[in-house]
Amino acid sequence: MASLVVAHGLDYAGLVLIGRDAERALVGVLLEAARGSTSGALVIRGEPGVGKSALLEDAREAAADMQVLSACGVESESELRSPGCIS
Ligand SMILES: Nc1ncnc2c1ncn2[C@@H]1O[C@H](COP(=O)(O)OP(=O)(O)OP(=O)(O)O)[C@@H](O)[C@H]1O
Ligand SMILES: [Mg+2]
Repeated sequence: MASLVVAHGLDYAGLVLIGRDAERALVGVLLEAARGSTSGALVIRGEPGVGKSALLEDAREAAADMQVLSACGVESESELRSPGCIS
């Protein structure tokens, strides 16, 4: 399965996230709920470069015991009804 690392050409491997304890805790709550078959959603948004993808990669690592499906969108597809590609 392709990962965000491949999709964006950035390497977040081994990155220690600074100042993201609250966000990581939220992700942890969602993952724990998912392990108990309770669905959930979390919107991660912010300015370019603020660390959205790094947080997603951290979430992927926290979900290493789970099946993770990823989708990435590009701005030029934003007007389409079903943009994004699942990898
Ligand atoms: N909490 C953090 N602690 C340390 N480094 C971080 C943190 N968040 C992001 N970085 C670093 O900052 C850079 C930008 O992060 P990232 O690619 O996740 O931003 P982004 O919000 O996804 O950007 P874009 O909107 O352009 O996709 C990366 O090199 C990443 O490793
Ligand atoms: Mg990004």
